[in-house]
Amino acid sequence: MRPEINKLLEMRDKALLGGGKEAVDAQHSKGKLTARERIELLVDLNSFIEIDMFAQHRATEFGMDKRVALGDGVVTGISRVDGRAAVVIAQDFTFLGGSLGEIHASKIVKSIQYALSIGAPIIFLNDSGGARIQEGVDALRGYGDIFYWNVQASGVVPQIAVIAGPCAGGAVYSPALMDFVIMVKKGSFMFITGPRVVKAAIGEEVDELQLGGAEVHAYKSGMAHLIAEDDREAISLVKKLLSYLPSNNMDDPPKVESNDDPERRDYELNDLIPEDPNKPYSMYEVINRVLDSESFFEIHKFWARTAVVGFGRLNGYVVGIVANQPAYLAGVLDIDASDKIARFVRFCDSFNIPIITFVDVPGYLPGTRQEHGGIIRHGAKVLYAYSEAVVPKLTVITRKAYGGAYIAMGSKHLGGDFVAAWPTAEIAVMGPEGAAEIIWRKELDKAKTPEEREELLQKFTKEYRDRIANPYVAAARGYIDAVIEPSETRPILIKMLEYLLTKREVKVRVPPRKHGNIPV
Ligand code: HXC
Repeated sequence: MRPEINKLLEMRDKALLGGGKEAVDAQHSKGKLTARERIELLVDLNSFIEIDMFAQHRATEFGMDKRVALGDGVVTGISRVDGRAAVVIAQDFTFLGGSLGEIHASKIVKSIQYALSIGAPIIFLNDSGGARIQEGVDALRGYGDIFYWNVQASGVVPQIAVIAGPCAGGAVYSPALMDFVIMVKKGSFMFITGPRVVKAAIGEEVDELQLGGAEVHAYKSGMAHLIAEDDREAISLVKKLLSYLPSNNMDDPPKVESNDDPERRDYELNDLIPEDPNKPYSMYEVINRVLDSESFFEIHKFWARTAVVGFGRLNGYVVGIVANQPAYLAGVLDIDASDKIARFVRFCDSFNIPIITFVDVPGYLPGTRQEHGGIIRHGAKVLYAYSEAVVPKLTVITRKAYGGAYIAMGSKHLGGDFVAAWPTAEIAVMGPEGAAEIIWRKELDKAKTPEEREELLQKFTKEYRDRIANPYVAAARGYIDAVIEPSETRPILIKMLEYLLTKREVKVRVPPRKHGNIPV
């Protein structure tokens, strides 16, 4: 064999070793896979074309001239995942802790640019100690470039981040700019400042997982959309997520053959809403009974649980589901639920995914905590996102649709294409009891005993409910397109969805603008 070929083969072997056998063993001993093992699990057999395998840093300070690894601590390339092209970036913790320097960063930027030019999703497997300390400002510049290109790719190709190890400091902002973040429960964390700095700055004692582990971000901060037990599960979640997404914003999401009858009626839905309007029921019942069987894939399951968002299928077509959850704090809209809904609606709109909204909402959450936290600002995002979305928007009001929350949740007034209500719907400015307290206050104040007052209140509440809080007043004005039997929700949604697939945007003419100014 020619020596040049031998040299190439030797270099390849060297590159495959990353930071060396010892570091690979250390990675395994933590229950983590290496970058290449993760890629192997993710991509279709023989589909991976590696780019920049022989890249090397050019730093010389602090002994860096002696610390070189081919690939510079990140494996990048183009592959197929379940038959569709995808760009993969996997940080290699075995070399200098996957830290990011100039060349490492430029490989990532090149990958994002490939994704943009071929219209393929980006999957970024993060496992890094952050900015490579020895490379100083070159490392910072690298992050800046990545953030810039994450933003250029936003809304053009889906971007999925897996956090499979440390992700600290400014490094967190690349995943934060992407569409979905999947965190591995063991050994992964995300925070701006680590425990040591926290202790020095404010005296708080906290460990890495308490500060920014997968569970914290799944339940409390909302940073993690999905969480996985280990690397393997995280990768299977990436594949599942991709199965609902188009490759880019010019494509439709992948349709599958459904073996669930599009005409299937579910008569149990007719009895789902309790007689007592204050009794809860689970919106999951509605979602799962209406969608193609077992197609619901929930996003942000543990965060802001008064709202539910996720992907599903109707007769094989991908849809985005947005719903209130009456089983959790009556399905009230609060700051986090508003953020969760607004972001999901905008994602669906960017990637041609029709939105199905199920409404049972008593309003926005009252109180100083919410008001001082900016519920006005956050609630406005929901209005903005729905008003701006041009994908088909179909809404079903199952029970309460009160006040501003009625308008926000995919109403006709924000461009809902088809708004249906179940006969149990209550559409009003506020709940009947509160309304009766206000409009019949004088009559109620005349009551001589508390019992008499309660009796009167019940009478007025019923009167308000009968006259106002039902779907027929809104239907009489055309604000509700149809009052439907709950059992026929699936066949009706499927038919309307299929009509709306050819929807063309009928828009009020607005002067050209760069972009609107969503109240972020
Ligand atoms: C250079 C780094 C590094 C870094 C880790 N290493 N982080 N080298 N720059 N940022 C090296 C270690 O020196 C070590 O080298 C090897 O990677 C493995 O690291 P260990 O510490 O042995 O691993 P572990 O015990 O698992 O701890 C991992 C870790 C820890 C928690 C990530 O290494 C750590 O705290 N690193 C520093 C993190 C940090 O402060 N990064 C800067 C954040 S600020 P050897 O020689 O042993 O192989 C930032 C700003 C970005 O990122 C701003 C952008 C806007």
